[in-house]
Amino acid sequence: MEKELVIVLDFGGQYNQLVARRVRECNVYCEIYSYRTEIEKIKEMNPKGIILTGGPNSCYEADSPTYTDTLFELGVPILGLCYGAQLMMHILGGKVEKAPVQEYGKTEVMINTASPLFTEVSEKTVCWMSHSDYISSVAPGFEIVAHTLDCPVAAAQNCVKNLFAIQFHPEVLHTQEGTKMLYNFVRGICGCAGTWRMDSFVEQSVQAIRQKVGNGKVLCALSGGVDSSVAAVMLSKAIGNQLTCVFVDHGLLRKNEGDEVEEVFGPNGPYELNFIRVNAQERYYQKLSGITEPEKKRKIIGEEFIRVFEEEAKKIGAVDFLVQGTIYPDVVESGLGGESAVIKSHHNVGGLPEHVDFKEIIEPLRDLFKDEVRKAGLEMGIPEKLVFRQPFPGPGLGIRIIGEVTAEKVRIVQEADAIYREEISNAGLDKTIGQYFAALTNMRSVGVMGDERTYDYAIALRAVNTIDFMTAESAEIPFEVLQKVMSRIINEVRGVNRVFYDLTSKPPGTIEFE
Ligand code: XMP
Repeated sequence: MEKELVIVLDFGGQYNQLVARRVRECNVYCEIYSYRTEIEKIKEMNPKGIILTGGPNSCYEADSPTYTDTLFELGVPILGLCYGAQLMMHILGGKVEKAPVQEYGKTEVMINTASPLFTEVSEKTVCWMSHSDYISSVAPGFEIVAHTLDCPVAAAQNCVKNLFAIQFHPEVLHTQEGTKMLYNFVRGICGCAGTWRMDSFVEQSVQAIRQKVGNGKVLCALSGGVDSSVAAVMLSKAIGNQLTCVFVDHGLLRKNEGDEVEEVFGPNGPYELNFIRVNAQERYYQKLSGITEPEKKRKIIGEEFIRVFEEEAKKIGAVDFLVQGTIYPDVVESGLGGESAVIKSHHNVGGLPEHVDFKEIIEPLRDLFKDEVRKAGLEMGIPEKLVFRQPFPGPGLGIRIIGEVTAEKVRIVQEADAIYREEISNAGLDKTIGQYFAALTNMRSVGVMGDERTYDYAIALRAVNTIDFMTAESAEIPFEVLQKVMSRIINEVRGVNRVFYDLTSKPPGTIEFE
């Protein structure tokens, strides 16, 4: 069967992965390439459609990213978005200049619904705008098919050549009918049948891994979380016992978690994996002793992971590859996804030490969002209980203990967190809240217990709802549940005399505390 491919040409915008994701949601396979990709290579790939993304530049400036005009002669349908739309007009003889009124945010757009791009889209629809340049006149052969109060060309088309330009961002969820527009492009205009499914992604990844690895040996960093579990099962599907999974118990796991992971992936579990558990608690506590700065803690934890893996790899001998379950939001937040700033160096991406003793790092889930990783996991038959586990960060409790990490603080936060999770589950809320956990603030305060003065730590409870972990709202937990958690923590966990509930959304907060 002919493989249907849509190519996204990346001009450096911040939503490029979202474009790919929305195309996948239309069941069409999609790959992202840099705008520097040669036209010959694009021809060879024989795409059914091409999407030009947004980007931070002005297309009329001399050294801005551009593309050869022969792209528009290939006879392949092309959709330009934001910068991509302006570039298309600029190259084909239209005019782009600084906009007299810049548009940013949700904006009402008036649509010509006769355009094939806007089939079944409302005449007035809300879109996400973010631009300071605008198309002041379209290129010859184009007609305007959408406008706003301030933007005369919100969309334009040349139906003879199947070229389309959209000034706003249909890939962003704030554009209410954006997915429909992208659907109209890839399924309607490009004529893709929409037969691609997540199992094709799994199948293609498995093939690609086999090719890359050959007869080599591979080590997988397994944490028992959703991402690394999906990566491990995918690798095991691809290369069987050439794979060894190493699970590092860094002493920063949730209560009993080490044993639970071993139950699933160890010798008595359902998978036939070479599984090694390394108990490295003491080593971690020593390295973290006296360290209070969050980024430093993350780097130490990340570096120590790699050192443990290197040691295990030496024992096995001749291991070329290291597998990590990095997913797309980790890449973005670590500042490696293009123009965006570093928020935190997620230890499995930006927190890697400069020198790594492996030939290559394999990250099969690097382009996927969390919900897509879950879909891939279900496709491979991983049990739902594991696939829908709430996320747990690689640096673990290390970033849920503010300030210095000690064995004593780990005990406190483990016990408080176990109580919190138990009560959330007793209240039947565990499936409705995106992520919830207890953290240990570095604050100690005076209290009274019995007739005694206490001077103990404060625990912060966090619970958030989120779709993609890039933004989040604090969850509404019934007061009586919170009260019960508070009372149990104070009574049962030695060293705590106060409990807070964190109401902060993301942004401005982050989900974790460090
Ligand atoms: P933040 O705190 O950045 O968290 O709002 C967003 C999501 O990412 C998880 N997280 C991590 N996951 N390694 C991981 O694998 C990390 O270093 C890391 N830091 C945060 C966090 O639990 C939340 O789900």
